[in-house]
Amino acid sequence: MLKLTYISHSAFILSDEQHTVIIDPFITNNPTAKLKVSDIQADFIFLTHAHSDHFGDTLEIAQRNYSLVICVNELANYVATKGVRTHGMNIGGGYEFPFGKLKLTIAHHGSAKSEYGDYMGDPSGVVINMGGKTVYHCGDTGLFLDMKLIGELSKPDIMLVPIGGNYTMGIDEAVVAVDFVKPAIAIPMHFNTFPVIEADPTEFVDKVNKRGNKARLMHFGETLEF
Ligand code: NI
Ligand code: MN
Repeated sequence: MLKLTYISHSAFILSDEQHTVIIDPFITNNPTAKLKVSDIQADFIFLTHAHSDHFGDTLEIAQRNYSLVICVNELANYVATKGVRTHGMNIGGGYEFPFGKLKLTIAHHGSAKSEYGDYMGDPSGVVINMGGKTVYHCGDTGLFLDMKLIGELSKPDIMLVPIGGNYTMGIDEAVVAVDFVKPAIAIPMHFNTFPVIEADPTEFVDKVNKRGNKARLMHFGETLEF
């Protein structure tokens, strides 16, 4: 059994009976998040990249929970300087963690930590096997044809796909992305947090369904069991 909670933006909590993984915990400065950082309990944190709308409250959560932060090597090295436990990886690599296997995928985007552009490695997506399900979180990315390979190799049950445009795919590209990956269900993310990424998630859901694939909207703060 996998429990999936959508905080909002690209932030999700995955948990099975034993472990909790939080992805891109952007909460404090996130106008659409309903949770409080102090409520978050997670033994693992996964970061797709260093941008502040993904890195978010990582340090506070990790320091309070003694969480292991998993991400690309260069970003992991930065996080480690803050006294947090890390596990660095890189694109294409997989590793067996106590909660299940986790593998990094490419993402076409950027990844810097500050306005000065400190190098934080490549941005990524991630495939996580947990609670008997396979989740593909695309991270921040444009559409790319290799998503077909991710679909073929990992056969995701759940695909978390950015739809807000400007920094990532917009709705029409995201609909094609879902067609490439063919997950059992696609869930939209990275929309309506800021004016520049306004998008109608129901339009995405309708277009995916019309194309013969399956999507559903998760509301901010909603939890589903798979
Ligand atoms: Ni970003
Ligand atoms: Mn972003």
